[in-house]
Amino acid sequence: MIVTIDGPAGAGKSSVSLKLADALGFFFLDTGAMYRCVTLACLRAKIDLSDPSAALEIAKSCEIELAKGSVKLNRDDVTREIRNPTVAKSIKPIAENPRIRELMVQQQRKICADRHCVTEGRDQGTVAFPDAQCKIFLTASPQERARRRVQQLLDNNIDADYDEILSQQNQRDQNDSSRQAGPLRAAPDAIVVITDGMTEQQVLEHLLGIVKDRLGQGRRQ
Ligand code: DC
Repeated sequence: MIVTIDGPAGAGKSSVSLKLADALGFFFLDTGAMYRCVTLACLRAKIDLSDPSAALEIAKSCEIELAKGSVKLNRDDVTREIRNPTVAKSIKPIAENPRIRELMVQQQRKICADRHCVTEGRDQGTVAFPDAQCKIFLTASPQERARRRVQQLLDNNIDADYDEILSQQNQRDQNDSSRQAGPLRAAPDAIVVITDGMTEQQVLEHLLGIVKDRLGQGRRQ
């Protein structure tokens, strides 16, 4: 079974998706981490990120390992480094590169081919897994999302300024929604969940209810 969770930056997708995967005993696939790894690899290689062919070559050379709580890029632990604002600021040309998106989607399908997965990103229900049994679009107001992102960064001992985060987030929302390849969009058959005013535990329980309902439907068919 594949559960897709898409939505804008800071909607609390990552932590709730991870907990949902744990509760279900499913593998958790953080696809944002994959784009972050490619961006970091390009920054390290000091290539021009807006050169699509050069960026694609770097993407092809990336060996990304996603395990519980750790992300490795070419065997180097980059779990913290990929969360750095410098990486987030540089991601746009990478996430917009259709050839890199194709490569990432191929890898995502391979990872989920032989196991139950909760996969989280922007295009999981629309592009990567259009036939997924359960699709969720998780969102919240921009202010609520920025507040949560600041807290998340502070929890990881990374300095964060609310206004800066909000403006970066608005820019990312705009970039994510307007790109040609794999734009941020709810699949027509996705269940939209707006999490303003909900605690993480409430969101988790709500999502568990949705997934169990879908699982039950699948068994009855
Ligand atoms: O979810 P996140 O903030 O870690 O994602 C980092 C960036 O990667 C974000 O700018 C959007 C992009 N992304 C994407 O284009 N497609 C995905 N499936 C996941 C993330």
